[in-house]
Amino acid sequence: MMKISPSVLSADFTKLTAELSALEAAGADYLHVDVMDGRFVPNITIGPFIVEALKRATRLPLDVHLMIEEPERYIADFAKAGASIITVHAEATRHLHKVVQAIREHKARPGVTINPGTPVSAIEEVLNDVDLVLIMSVNPGFSGQGFIPGALKKLETVRRMINERGLKTELEVDGGIKVANIAEAARAGADVFVSGSGIFGTPDYKKTIAAMREAVRA
Ligand code: DX5
Ligand code: ZN
Repeated sequence: MMKISPSVLSADFTKLTAELSALEAAGADYLHVDVMDGRFVPNITIGPFIVEALKRATRLPLDVHLMIEEPERYIADFAKAGASIITVHAEATRHLHKVVQAIREHKARPGVTINPGTPVSAIEEVLNDVDLVLIMSVNPGFSGQGFIPGALKKLETVRRMINERGLKTELEVDGGIKVANIAEAARAGADVFVSGSGIFGTPDYKKTIAAMREAVRA
């Protein structure tokens, strides 16, 4: 079953509750929350305080994408704030296996992700321990960037690994996903699709999400 995870970073924060209700009514599955620290990526965005507010404002499970150095320092805070999924970058920690265990201990679902320049081998050893793998199809830091085609081959590789190992791991793709290219990412093996500008840049979220599902089915 495919899932759509709209990235709240592209929402209008002056009317956040209306945006969240619109996403729920539009049939979104998760809410993708992009956490940036100004170090791992140049941008600074959302901290645990806002995640905690989002948790109170929506019933969508929070799909929290940590683009921060040494994410181990903040797992407890984001879990406590209400994150359902906490995804960490393999590049951001020297102790990937340990961070993944910590996420589980804090009763959140662990995810792991890699930048466009990082090979899939970086996550091979933790694949059996995570609930989700996220393949970045842009260099993290900003929404509204173009999809990097090299992500397709990575999705295919990870999909093969997941199937060969008989795992139920979700395979998510993040960056530049729109109605026009979502089918390609699905064919490569993705089943969870993050979209920021591809949803919030359109007038009718419900229509857009329906069109995304239709494109994947076709
Ligand atoms: C990039 C973020 C993405 C981004 C998605 O650093 O991780 O989640 O906000 O936005 P679009 O879909 O516009 O590329
Ligand atoms: Zn993201």
